[in-house]
Amino acid sequence: MFEDLNLISMIIGIPKEVKPFEYRVALIPSTVKALTSAGHTVFVEQTAGLGSGFLDEDYLEAGAVILKNPNELYARSETIIKVKEPQPSEMAFLRPGLMLFCFFHFAGSECLTKSCLDKRITALAFETLFDANHRLPILAPMSEIAGRLSVQEGAKCLENPMHGRGLLLGGVPGVERGEVLILGGGMVGENAARIAAGFGANVTILDINPQRMHDLESILPPNVKTQYNSDSALKSLVTKADLVIGAALIPGKKAPKLISQEMLKTMKKGSVLVDVAIDQGGCFETSHPTTHDKPTYIVDDVVHYAVANMPGAVSRTSTFALNQVLLPYAVDLANLGVDGFLALSHGHENALNMRDGKLSLTALKETFPNLC
Ligand SMILES: NC(=O)c1ccc[n+]([C@@H]2O[C@H](COP(=O)([O-])OP(=O)(O)OC[C@H]3O[C@@H](n4cnc5c(N)ncnc54)[C@H](O)[C@@H]3O)[C@@H](O)[C@H]2O)c1
Repeated sequence: MFEDLNLISMIIGIPKEVKPFEYRVALIPSTVKALTSAGHTVFVEQTAGLGSGFLDEDYLEAGAVILKNPNELYARSETIIKVKEPQPSEMAFLRPGLMLFCFFHFAGSECLTKSCLDKRITALAFETLFDANHRLPILAPMSEIAGRLSVQEGAKCLENPMHGRGLLLGGVPGVERGEVLILGGGMVGENAARIAAGFGANVTILDINPQRMHDLESILPPNVKTQYNSDSALKSLVTKADLVIGAALIPGKKAPKLISQEMLKTMKKGSVLVDVAIDQGGCFETSHPTTHDKPTYIVDDVVHYAVANMPGAVSRTSTFALNQVLLPYAVDLANLGVDGFLALSHGHENALNMRDGKLSLTALKETFPNLC
């Protein structure tokens, strides 16, 4: 396939994730093996894979070099492939021209965007790369997982000890079932609906894409219905919901704020909001990011769950799911270098969020005109 292309050899670093309660690792040993077999050098930080069940020995067997010190790993690598956006403690390792390929979700944080621009890194974001079908292939498996988890976590939050309204999502014969409202019927929404329906709840998905709603109705069970997200539909459904899941996305932009503080006051006491879209700023006005050790807080008697790295809690599943999709992109990036990679398609090009201290992605320029 690449006969006419100029293949290069790349030095890639895989750091240990440092975001709180993040147990994923970007590359599993078999993906590392694919890169080293193609002539690339892969540095892996000591114990980087442990949270997902991989030992340093597994990486050594795959041809990686284990480095103890993250400072050295960043300094000796041309490209860093990681899972989560750089954390404050990692900022000192960044330097002009260093390429990072990971989840950034820049639209959710002006501070992160500005810091990375100041460092003049080349940022390729997993979440804005799209494929020939206009889907987001690297985000998709994490969204499948977060969608499924959102109902698991939401059901738990409805229990009394979590300050929920003491409702079993599926009810029992003769007793009310839970009402689940899902905002956004994409990958997160579809997977949340499937699990909530399996629990036996009544599920409504609100979206603004008629074709997508048509497709969802044909693949989901009969206790899931779809509705166009109008202001009146949303206001009415919010008052009846026991569990609301925020999953609306406009790629590269801040999530639309669908539930205002005023609307929150109309919700049942002890109902639950799970804001999966919190990584892009969140769908609820009252959301702020939380972590796995303290995932919830309460506003106006409504329990809020807003963990920004939900798949990190099921690291084994998430790391394998991520690698299934990441492998061909990582190999192409290593073989072709950044310019060859971006030239492959418009979808690849859309992964580039910033370079040389300037924003590249149109949606991001529109979100932060002050940073252009
Ligand atoms: N918190 C986490 O750990 C975690 C993990 C994975 C994904 N996510 C996030 O979840 C969000 C959803 O991801 P996804 O993969 O399902 O996206 P997606 O693109 O597959 O789906 C988004 C859906 O939102 C719909 N939408 C857009 N604007 C809307 C509006 N105003 N009202 C109703 N629907 C609207 C779109 O039509 C689309 O169907 C993203 O922000 C993603 O980054 C978070």
